[in-house]
Amino acid sequence: MSALSCPADERPIPEVGDAGRVTELTTSRLELRRWREADLDEHAAMIADPQINRYVGGPTDRASAWRQIAIFIGHRELRGWTSSVVVERQSGRVVGRAGLWQPEGYPGVEVGWILKPGVWNQGYATEIGQAVRDYAFDTLGIPHLLSLIHPDNHASIRVAQKIGATLEGEYDLNGTRHLIYGQSARSQDTPERTFMP
Ligand SMILES: CC(C)(COP(=O)(O)OP(=O)(O)OC[C@H]1O[C@@H](n2cnc3c(N)ncnc32)[C@H](O)[C@@H]1OP(=O)(O)O)[C@@H](O)C(=O)NCCC(=O)NCCS
Repeated sequence: MSALSCPADERPIPEVGDAGRVTELTTSRLELRRWREADLDEHAAMIADPQINRYVGGPTDRASAWRQIAIFIGHRELRGWTSSVVVERQSGRVVGRAGLWQPEGYPGVEVGWILKPGVWNQGYATEIGQAVRDYAFDTLGIPHLLSLIHPDNHASIRVAQKIGATLEGEYDLNGTRHLIYGQSARSQDTPERTFMP
């Protein structure tokens, strides 16, 4: 990787798509990392897969995949966190996306998970969901997390339950009834926060 240097202080100027720290979280088997434009092929294949997208709006095309990546990156710029790329550490393969999500108008901060079928039922979603939950509660001081889940998406409901969420209600997401699974930070886990006037 070539890195241009800044004459003023010799700090390297990051290349486009490799801006700063790219690893956001690691678990024993997984890494959550920032998006790059080079993720387009993997992401386009994922969002075109009817099995993966059965309960998350249905398959979409490559141009939409590019726009989604841009929105994930923009969401991180605006909020400091987003739904990021999940990498299997042992193989280095991209296996999905997961993280925190709250576009304008959303009913709360969502912890979400979408993985490729080849890695389902190995506890990956639970592993990354727990890590994201802990990061949200303990590091970011987010007081409450939710997951909006299609009522027939039993695997995702199970993941939500395994990370400690319970059914809190229902929400109409783009015209489709979803269940709200949620949990609050335990009071001892919630750091004191000081807000500047
Ligand atoms: C939902 C999803 C992320 C789960 O990922 P995963 O890595 O397989 O999840 P885990 O292995 O951590 O846990 C899955 C749990 O669901 C259970 N499960 C799987 N399929 C199930 C089904 N059809 N009915 C009931 N439970 C099911 C598993 O047995 C496991 O529970 P257990 O540990 O008690 O046995 C994955 O299926 C996926 O990516 N689906 C497509 C995208 C999606 O729908 N994302 C969620 C949007 S809300």
